[in-house]
Amino acid sequence: MAVRWFYLSALTLSSLGLMCILFTVYWMQSWHGGFAWDGTIFTFNCHPVLMVAGMVVLYSAASLVYRLPQSWVGSKLPWKIVHAALHLMAFILTVLGLVAVFKYHNHANIANLYSLHSWLGITTVFLFACQWFLGFAVFLLPWASVWLRRLLKPIHVFFGASILSLAIASVISGINEKLFFSLKNATKPYSSLPGEAVFANSTGMLVVVFALLVLYILQASSWKRPEAGVVTERQLLLQLVPSQPVPVTYVPVTVGQPYELW
Ligand code: HEM
Repeated sequence: MAVRWFYLSALTLSSLGLMCILFTVYWMQSWHGGFAWDGTIFTFNCHPVLMVAGMVVLYSAASLVYRLPQSWVGSKLPWKIVHAALHLMAFILTVLGLVAVFKYHNHANIANLYSLHSWLGITTVFLFACQWFLGFAVFLLPWASVWLRRLLKPIHVFFGASILSLAIASVISGINEKLFFSLKNATKPYSSLPGEAVFANSTGMLVVVFALLVLYILQASSWKRPEAGVVTERQLLLQLVPSQPVPVTYVPVTVGQPYELW
């Protein structure tokens, strides 16, 4: 993977993530009257924005921490702390997003947790909470044995990608549900594809493209921390100089301590 390609991909991904959030803010601001925290429908409007920002964009950024070449050398501990802290921030935004919708439902006497979207969403958030606490307890706190870490690592990796996929399904079903709720009058039905529908559908597609890129990078071996002792072309990235080629000495390097398994 060329250095230039790495920086281009990182820039593209950051821009896409930012666009996902901005599009959601613009949708709620322009077609639904903006934001408040008083239990009214404007409180609901915080829900999509906080969910996209927390469960999709920040969650993805936290998941991709180990794909940064800076994290490939030296101790893993600082990167584990960054990984856990970003996930915690994503979780806080997610919980606030749920508080917004429950607050609105209770204020407006709307039943809670009746739709497929809400079942999928609450399951996703529950799995995210379990994943964070288990990851923190096993991989960050020092008590766990090498055996336990080795056992749990593939499970942690599998659930990391699965939770992002479930978050995308939640976002898509949420967008769809909101459009069916809002565009049901005779003058601008969803089927006539009014401006709001075009914009919200596009926001959903943007979120899907962003998440697919994140999932690709998460599984692609060329983006992964090189195994200890294996020196490849990817070591070029460790120089972190985007434009000037600098001579490289191919010396096997020890990446991380033997007990640092992820
Ligand atoms: C990962 C992202 C998301 C998760 C985990 C999620 C989760 C939830 C949950 C658990 C509820 C039920 C609240 C209650 O019953 O009081 C809910 C409601 C709702 N959400 Fe989301 N949501 C997400 C994203 C979105 C997005 C992007 C939209 C787009 C506008 C949206 C629209 C709605 C709507 C319209 C409701 C109210 C109707 C219902 O209860 O299904 N959600 N969401």
